[in-house]
Amino acid sequence: MKTYQLPQDSRLSQPDFVFGVATSSYQIEGAAKEGGRTPSIWDTFCALPGAVHNGENGDIACDHYHLWKQDIEMIHGLGVDAYRLSIAWPRIFPHEGELNPQGLNFYQNIIDECHAKGMKVYVTLYHWDLPQYLQDRGGWLNRETAYKFAEYAEVVSAHFGDQIDVYTTLNEPFVASFLGYRWGIHAPGIKGEREGLLAAHHMLLGHGLAMPLLRRNAPKSQHGIVFNASPSYPLSEKDQAAADYSEAEGYHWFMDPVLKGEYPALVLERQASNLPMILDGDLAIIHAPVDYVGINYYTRHVCCFDENGDIKNVEQSQAEHTFIGWEVYPQGLTDLLVRIHQRYTNMPPMLITENGSAGDDCVIDGEVNDEQRTRYFQSHLLAVDEAIRQGVNVTGYFAWSLMDNFEWAYGYEQRFGIVHVDYQTQKRTLKQSAIAYRNMLLERAEENK
Ligand code: FCB
Repeated sequence: MKTYQLPQDSRLSQPDFVFGVATSSYQIEGAAKEGGRTPSIWDTFCALPGAVHNGENGDIACDHYHLWKQDIEMIHGLGVDAYRLSIAWPRIFPHEGELNPQGLNFYQNIIDECHAKGMKVYVTLYHWDLPQYLQDRGGWLNRETAYKFAEYAEVVSAHFGDQIDVYTTLNEPFVASFLGYRWGIHAPGIKGEREGLLAAHHMLLGHGLAMPLLRRNAPKSQHGIVFNASPSYPLSEKDQAAADYSEAEGYHWFMDPVLKGEYPALVLERQASNLPMILDGDLAIIHAPVDYVGINYYTRHVCCFDENGDIKNVEQSQAEHTFIGWEVYPQGLTDLLVRIHQRYTNMPPMLITENGSAGDDCVIDGEVNDEQRTRYFQSHLLAVDEAIRQGVNVTGYFAWSLMDNFEWAYGYEQRFGIVHVDYQTQKRTLKQSAIAYRNMLLERAEENK
């Protein structure tokens, strides 16, 4: 497949539909000890025996800290409208209250280079690399961290203002709080029901506190938040309640406070003994208006309750899976977007801020034939198109990821890039999926001339 096909009158073919590629700071930058950066919770977590596949870490990653210029050239070569990246908080504030000009400069260069090439810049403030010095005081278990996040958002937005076209407060508060503070499989590796819910509340509070500051400092930019979400389906007819509960904890718990100013009743009831301290006024802060909602979609869940009454995700052994073990289910993206659209009144536009597929790709004769990923993008683009036809307002799509990178607890084994990275030489090679993306965007540009 040399290009992705879209139906004739697709909204995705219009010039104002934003196509991009996404990355995050810890996953690509490397230079962990350069430019004044101090450790984040991910540097610490990676050093724990058994925490990350093969004991790997982000010390070097894609060495993007040094190769940023050629990487942006490569992004531009794909013909995308926008680049989604994240800022490493410990580069901006390596020590409590100490602003680091080298950190600001690094991102200033990237922003300038993208703009010089006509690409918009989408910046996430928190893609999981919390400064370790804040974790030493409890991290997201400490309510103070929400206020520290707001200060950081204030400083970054005061500095960059409208130069950042689209601001995102948090990337996937579900993953950051539940995998990090509830199940202990991400940094900082804490396990506890209460801890997970408490961290989640403080992250959302940080988001809400930051929103008015971002608006004041960057009035022409757009401001919002990114959620991961998977639609859940009942294993059999009698499992509908399990599927409902799975969605309630999986994304209503995070989206409802932002979009409705309340937590979902299903979770409040079931988690009654684990609930965080929610102060008067917290939900009003979290409910600050957002200009868009970013959705990260990879797969669906099929569930039932197990013998202890816990949610069990049941693997669909007949279905196609990617290398990481996630089912390929494009229909889930249509269903998810329609469900979200129906759940929230006055829903702001949605963007697909991440979507992609993992492989164990290798370069053969200078080429990477990532046939499965290419099919994955094709079918998921059609799934977005279908949701739009059903009335959902989707305004953009970002492929995860620009290039292979440090895939958190999976280390470097799982490759999500549309560009292959040889970690020995740092050579980048466009995979077939990237070439198809580029060709689609070239064709669109031709048609819209
Ligand atoms: C998402 C993360 C992103 C990447 C993809 C595969 O949960 O936002 O950093 O790890 O999954």
